[in-house]
Amino acid sequence: MSSTDRDLHSFANSDEVRVRHVDLDLDVSFEAKTISGTATLDLDRLAPGATRVVLDLNGLIIESAEAGSGDTFETTRFGLGEAQKYLGVPLDIDLPDGADRVRIRYRTIPEAGGLQWLDPAQTAGKQHPFLFSQSQAIFARTWIPLQDSPGVRVTYSAVIRTPKDLVAVMSAEMERPPAKTGEYRFKMEQAIPPYLIAIAVGDLAFQEVGPRTGVWAEPSVVGRAAAEFEDMESMLDAVEELYGPYRWGLFDVLVLPPSFPFGGMENPRLTFATPTLLAGDKSLVSVIAHELAHSWSGNLVTNATWRDFWLNEGFTVYLESRMQEAVYSPERAAMEGVLEVEGLREELAEFKERDQILHVDLAGRDPDEGFSSVPYIKGMLLLKTIEREVGRERFDDFLKGYFDKFAFQSITTGQFVAYLGEQLPEVPGKVDLAQWIEQPGLPADAAVPESDAFERVAKVRDQWVAEEIETSEIPASTWTVHEWLHFLSTLPDSVGPERMSRLDEAFGFTQSGNSEIVHRWLLESVKRGYAPADERVETFLIEVGRRKFLKPLYEALAETPEGKARAKAIYQKARPGYHPIAQTSVDAILGM
Ligand code: BES
Ligand code: ZN
Repeated sequence: MSSTDRDLHSFANSDEVRVRHVDLDLDVSFEAKTISGTATLDLDRLAPGATRVVLDLNGLIIESAEAGSGDTFETTRFGLGEAQKYLGVPLDIDLPDGADRVRIRYRTIPEAGGLQWLDPAQTAGKQHPFLFSQSQAIFARTWIPLQDSPGVRVTYSAVIRTPKDLVAVMSAEMERPPAKTGEYRFKMEQAIPPYLIAIAVGDLAFQEVGPRTGVWAEPSVVGRAAAEFEDMESMLDAVEELYGPYRWGLFDVLVLPPSFPFGGMENPRLTFATPTLLAGDKSLVSVIAHELAHSWSGNLVTNATWRDFWLNEGFTVYLESRMQEAVYSPERAAMEGVLEVEGLREELAEFKERDQILHVDLAGRDPDEGFSSVPYIKGMLLLKTIEREVGRERFDDFLKGYFDKFAFQSITTGQFVAYLGEQLPEVPGKVDLAQWIEQPGLPADAAVPESDAFERVAKVRDQWVAEEIETSEIPASTWTVHEWLHFLSTLPDSVGPERMSRLDEAFGFTQSGNSEIVHRWLLESVKRGYAPADERVETFLIEVGRRKFLKPLYEALAETPEGKARAKAIYQKARPGYHPIAQTSVDAILGM
């Protein structure tokens, strides 16, 4: 391992003493907004002389530490090291000779960065509070003391106690649906990176979708969710057919309240998802395909450090596209691909060079700063480009072999490049891998997707903009959500408020129930000063906490002094409802 392959975002001494299993025994208190109890860690002692284990910690209160073996523990000394920005503090625990377990009694703080505690008002049912975790990238350490590096894979087990009327779920095997006893048991027997340990507690119901798939959500949402995601089982079959067996048993989706800051999070056996996917017409399910694809790229073969994040996301966007192609149609996959590349180009035009690099340098930075279209879409385009060079059949064989070879391992960019060179030796002569992986920008040979449907949309758009056709002549009834997204996102600046109002009258965009459409519409409205959308901008920003929607809207508002003042006024109301991750992002935009 070269020095640049070290995980710079963990304090753990995992090359000496390595956590292998995490056993949790925790109480969830909504009154105190804390999780408290014990974490018992099984250790592999790789360096026989090591006298301590170093864990990652961020904001946890440690009450005691014991060390031992089997069921015998004795109190041991522990200490906190120096805090570092973004990372928290190292927790070192003395290990007497022969000790291969530590038991830590601890509690979280109400501000834990990896947890969001919701009031009943923030839920669909309005009766019960809700809690969910988001551990990726480095927030597991805000609710569990462990070695929080994606290179340190662990199995885990847990007993979680909650108020009796609530249900706890985790990214693990569990009773489905459970008896509501207030005490829930979990086990994850496959070794996973710690960022995939996840919990949610709330008034949750379960509904089966297929033999291996189901949805969890609040009772008033679960039926809609099951209908929206009815194709999950076919997605699972499609990806298995291409890339080998699904190795996690079941695949469920938990639909969270709207403050969930992401579209989806691939927690094993239990993907977490935003309710903004529930469009009513399955138009936004590519996010589910994406999270399911992570069961291969990410959860099975994992980025060893956060600089290798593109291995998780680039591969996953590629797989996602193949699934959309298989389950829906090549045209739909192409449209989604073109929209993604439009987004990538916009970001590349704005980004500093160092942030345009797949193998990004994150030294001294928050891993969240590496979160952009670059690992996702530039990463996907690299794989499409390799596919174009070697042909789909050989590339599929390669990928299948890759998932087998590195199953349940965490690997670096260097390991991927070496394996690619072994398996497909002609690739380095055809694709400039060093340029793709280590240099900024998008190489000219990128295999960018093209969509005939979007070409037709562009023609209509140009005619409508030139007033050669009436608004009523836009072939709306034949257009899908994706065609509208392309139409709206490529309107020229010359389309002002008056022309926007024609679209709104004809198609009701301001009141659209499709989150992607309404988001794109509101963004264009803010940029073009289309005032009738103002109120909806405010309600949308207060209702929805998905960062992908918040950031562009706040950024667009902040472009003008009046807009910025409005943004700040809205944010003042909205901020308490946002997840800490979203708060951090919006704080930065508005300079708070
Ligand atoms: N694993 C990511 C979400 C993530 C990445 C959370 C890094 C924290 C740190 C998840 O798989 C993801 O990529 N979600 C996307 C959806 C996707 C379709 C691009 C999202 O939430 O926008
Ligand atoms: Zn992802």
